[in-house]
Amino acid sequence: MAGEAEQQLRAYVDYLRDLGVYDLYRRGAPGLEADLGLTSEAAEPPPEMSAAPRVAVSSVEISQPVATPVTRSVSARPQAIDVAPPIKKDFSESEIPKPISFDNLTPLPEVRFAAAHKPAALNAIREDIGDCTRCPLAYAGRRKIVFADGDPSARLMFVGEGPGADEDAQGLPFVGKAGQLLNNMIGAMGLKREQVYIANIVKCRPPANRVPEPVEANTCSQFLLRQIDVVQPQVIVALGSTAATYLLGVKQSLAGLRGKWHSCRGAKVAVTYHPAFLLRDPRQKGEAWKDLQMVMKELGLKAAAKG
Ligand code: URA
Repeated sequence: MAGEAEQQLRAYVDYLRDLGVYDLYRRGAPGLEADLGLTSEAAEPPPEMSAAPRVAVSSVEISQPVATPVTRSVSARPQAIDVAPPIKKDFSESEIPKPISFDNLTPLPEVRFAAAHKPAALNAIREDIGDCTRCPLAYAGRRKIVFADGDPSARLMFVGEGPGADEDAQGLPFVGKAGQLLNNMIGAMGLKREQVYIANIVKCRPPANRVPEPVEANTCSQFLLRQIDVVQPQVIVALGSTAATYLLGVKQSLAGLRGKWHSCRGAKVAVTYHPAFLLRDPRQKGEAWKDLQMVMKELGLKAAAKG
């Protein structure tokens, strides 16, 4: 059946993409062989990363002064159309926008938001987004804009790629199957979902869950950057290649990025596998658990008790 074959091919493409094999959609799969030799010895993850959280982590109170958010007016949304405008696929190498690290987009903020002012500052960003039509995803069947979820003063932030069908329906990030696994990962770290901040590179669902196009990610990233500058987490975990690519401004395989610290907007950044990838290849959960243990050490967290 054509549908089944298509689904299998799509799952394979997603699998390779999560490993950091890029440009499958455009030009075949350069570097495929190198990228396939990725797996190393797996650490034993907690049982399905599902243990109940144990250690509570309080938010960090941030000192004054308080930055004043700028509010821009929200323009009326042009009439939506059913199909996404065609996106040119045969870019020459020089035409493909290169990712720019969040640190190079704009100077780091000189002020830190006091915890009490963070919710309002985040609301102001949400208002600026409005009923956004800045990129083609607005016309590609989006239902809800998925802003973020969690504690505005979180010490730990997770960044994924973009909403899927469940997130698009509910307007919240990571509420589908991948979200359940992310919740388990957070629980295994001794935290509750409400204690972290969760967002995505793009806030609207790409059609058929495809990877966001550079123009979409680059357009949307101004808002994620502002969210990070308000939350000012100590650690950001980039979930998968797309998050790592745009936060760090590098296009590298996950193998090259995992297991070391990177930096973004004053936060330390760890890169790990996307939960959707871990659902497709559960053998890699041990590797992801190693990444999370690095984060836990940095934040002084203790793993949740087993059972
Ligand atoms: N995958 C993502 O990258 N983000 C979500 O919010 C859900 C699934």
